Formats: sequence, structure tokens, C-alpha cells
Amino acid sequence: AGDPWKQCMDTAVQLALRAGQVVRKALTEEKRVSTKTSVVDLVTETDHFVEELIISALREKFPSHRFIGEESTSAGSKCVLTDSPTWIIDPIDGTCNFVHRFPLVAVSIGFAVNRELEFGVIYHCIDEKLYTARKGRGAFCNQARLHVTKETGIKNSLILTEIGPKRDPATLKLFLGNMERLLTFQAHGIRVIGSATLSLCHIASGASDAFYQFGLHCWDLAAATVIIREAGGFVIDTSGGPLDLMSCRVVAAGTMELAQSIAQELQTIDYGRDD
Ligand code: IPD
Repeated sequence: AGDPWKQCMDTAVQLALRAGQVVRKALTEEKRVSTKTSVVDLVTETDHFVEELIISALREKFPSHRFIGEESTSAGSKCVLTDSPTWIIDPIDGTCNFVHRFPLVAVSIGFAVNRELEFGVIYHCIDEKLYTARKGRGAFCNQARLHVTKETGIKNSLILTEIGPKRDPATLKLFLGNMERLLTFQAHGIRVIGSATLSLCHIASGASDAFYQFGLHCWDLAAATVIIREAGGFVIDTSGGPLDLMSCRVVAAGTMELAQSIAQELQTIDYGRDD
């Protein structure tokens, strides 16, 4: 049957670009902001609008496929990955950035078949950079091929992380303790840019060496995981074991050595599971 998922990926690219246009325009306009799991877990009418735009277009074209979307999930839809072709969508990654007009905001569309990630499309709406990867066929930003760095140790590496939505004292202590450990090992720097997917794209493009986070979700990880792996990098669980898309935690790096070294230093912050 030739290439069964090409049409899906082409559609994902078109929709990410269209959604990105909506997000780019909405960035400078007045927004209605609500909260979800915590007072810092934000959502706007644009998150809902864009998710609906993407999912309704996909459902019409691929009626037998399944969908996991950030805002449909918080509205009560189940977050389960089956063997069916499944789209995993974050309409606006970096909603807090979006609310504050901080210009790092992305649309993320991942696609899995038989529980395996097949392709990922991430659109940096403000810089108009399109990150894409298809399993076995490399990762790209616009037309340029992406490659991870070869850094193997925490010392001298540039590491990205995200804070996550819990802000109780015990969680903050663990979060800051993790940062402190990595800095003690003489990491060159740690950055928090406000978008898990764009952080992961920076690993894929070799602009930083590693990313870790507790408290993110499958829609922050699905597309980016394919992009990093196709750029030569590694995406694993914070325990050091294989990635579990639903476990709300991740370490990614250009080398397995660096991913494992970071995993070994991290104290676990429990965010439960997506499924
Ligand atoms: C969030 C952002 C944030 C990260 C959260 C994500 P959202 O995604 O990527 O930087 O810390 O874990 O859920 O809510 O803006 O789509």
C-alpha cells in the first residue's frame, strides 16, 4: 500500500501551520484565562479553539482514528493509547508564555500506531520554525537536517528543564534540589524556557544537551520524542528505564550516557499518570 502514513503526516503539517497562524495572531490580543489542575496551570479560549480546529479536521479525514488532546482530556476524555492509529495533540504548548506574550509557543502533533510513535510535527508559532520527524527518516527543522550534541557528562553541559504545575513546599524543595545537584556537578547552565516541546526541539537541533521534567504529559512528549530520536538522541524515563509516555516524567539527551547520568541524580517528584 505504498506509504500508509504519508497522507497523515502531510495533513499534520498543514494543520500545524494553520493552527500556528491562529496562535500567532491571538498572542497579542486580549485573552480570557482560566486555570486547570492548579492556579498556575493555565488555559485560554485559544487552546480550546485550536484543539477543536485540529481534531475536527483530522476526524473528518481519518474517521477511524483515535485522539488524545490536552484540552479534551481536561474536559474528561480518557487518555489511553491503544493499538489503533492515535493522534496526540497539544494545541498550545507554552500556554503560560502565550498568556504573557513571551514568544515561545508551539503546536505539537504526534501520531502513534500499535503504541509506537510514527511521526511528530511541532510548529514554533512565533519563529515560524517547523520541526518534523518520521520514524526511520531523520528529523528536520524547515528543510535542515537536525543532529543532537555528543556531550556525555553533566559537567560542561547545557540542560533544560520545566517547573511543572505543583508549587507546594515539598515539591519545590525536590525541584530546586534537583537543579542544585546538576549545578554542583558543574553543568554550564540550566534554562527554563516555558515550553517542554520547544525545549525538546532544542535538544534535537543540538542547541542544548539535555532536558528533564516531572509533571509534563503525553501530548508534550509524543511528537518531540520522534524528533529527538530521529536526530540521534535518547528519550528515557527518569528511573533510567525505557520511556513511558503516560508516566508524566522524562529525561532526554543527545547521548545515552548523559541521559543516564541525569536520571541517576534526580529525586522523583510524583505527578501520577496520564492513563
Ligand atoms: C506545559 C508547558 C510547560 C511544562 C508543562 C506543560 P501547556 O504545557 O510545556 O512548560 O512545564 O509541564 O504541560 O500546558 O502549556 O500545553
